[in-house]
Amino acid sequence: MRDGEDGGGRGDRVLGIESSCDETAAAVVAGGRVILSSVVASQADLHRRYGGVVPEIASRRHVELILPAIDTALHQAGIGGADLDAVAVTYGPGLVGSLLVGLSAAKALAFALQKPLIAVNHLEGHLYANLLTHPDTAPPYVCLIVSGGHTEILYVPEYGEYTLMGRTRDDAAGEAFDKIARLLGLGYPGGPALERAAQGGDPEAFAFPRALRGEPGYDFSFSGLKTAGLYAWRDIEARRVPVPLADFAASFQEAVVDALVERAVRAARDRNVRTLLLAGGVAANRRLQQRLAESARAAGVDLYCPPPALCTDNAAMIAAAGYFAWQKGRLASFDLNAAPNLRLAGERFTRRRERG
Ligand code: KG4
Ligand code: ZN
Repeated sequence: MRDGEDGGGRGDRVLGIESSCDETAAAVVAGGRVILSSVVASQADLHRRYGGVVPEIASRRHVELILPAIDTALHQAGIGGADLDAVAVTYGPGLVGSLLVGLSAAKALAFALQKPLIAVNHLEGHLYANLLTHPDTAPPYVCLIVSGGHTEILYVPEYGEYTLMGRTRDDAAGEAFDKIARLLGLGYPGGPALERAAQGGDPEAFAFPRALRGEPGYDFSFSGLKTAGLYAWRDIEARRVPVPLADFAASFQEAVVDALVERAVRAARDRNVRTLLLAGGVAANRRLQQRLAESARAAGVDLYCPPPALCTDNAAMIAAAGYFAWQKGRLASFDLNAAPNLRLAGERFTRRRERG
């Protein structure tokens, strides 16, 4: 462990707040490692009938849920606001209206309680979900972040330093799952529904395309696969034959998993790192975990993945990332704004301010 990354040091209890998409979440984490409470209020039921997240509905619901979520997180942690040492909040990337709700709550709380405010990049939060559960991991590592909005491979030579190795050129992996699940009438969110539907199915029943296979680099492309899925499904429906749903779902899942596994393990090998971290909502997919574990093992690389509840959006990961950012003096000021298109790689936090 490096200086400032050992979970000790000054201050302790960080309140994390997350509202970047359709989960309103608050959590208290001690020393960046110990989850004292983690509350996630999902809005999935609200968006289900639209087949996806409706931004305006999401932000209105965040307004209703954010204070109860914070209250519950404090209550479950057995502390009051005054016992907190800092407040960490997701400021991007995400839906601007949703981000602003969490951000406003965090600022108000930090101001009223006279506690430091810490700005957390949502993607960095996903990465820290791993460090929460596997404290023994340390850079250098390669990280595959797969969520509803992002599919990226990052090289992390040091804590807080990110080099983008590859990313999707179109849809994110989770987005591809969500869209195909919607087509199949499996509901929202699509990833878990598609995984369930794929159980017992033959992953080789349909020969879906593998884009960019054999090409150098680590980029992804899922839009061609999505279109191939759409046409194949329409064809099945037109032929009025018994619908091979499990085979179709398993084959689609396999095509996404194939691309993710091949690039991630090759990236780890090319960078000569021993550690590969899997993060983001799609990391909850068991087929992906299993295939990645097999392939990583064969390449002599250790794979780490958070438990499912920490793969999908939550505030414990934000509190953990916030804690370590704070230890490095990465404090935010009260003019912090939402950054809907925030990137992780190439970002440098140069602002170092100590609060009086
Ligand atoms: O990280 P996350 O909770 O939110 C974003 O930051 O986007 O990721 C949500 C995405 C959705 O696309 C959802 O369908 C997908 O993660 N997902 C899964 C699974 N669980 C969630 N995809 C495949 N298999 C799963 N088990
Ligand atoms: Zn996320």
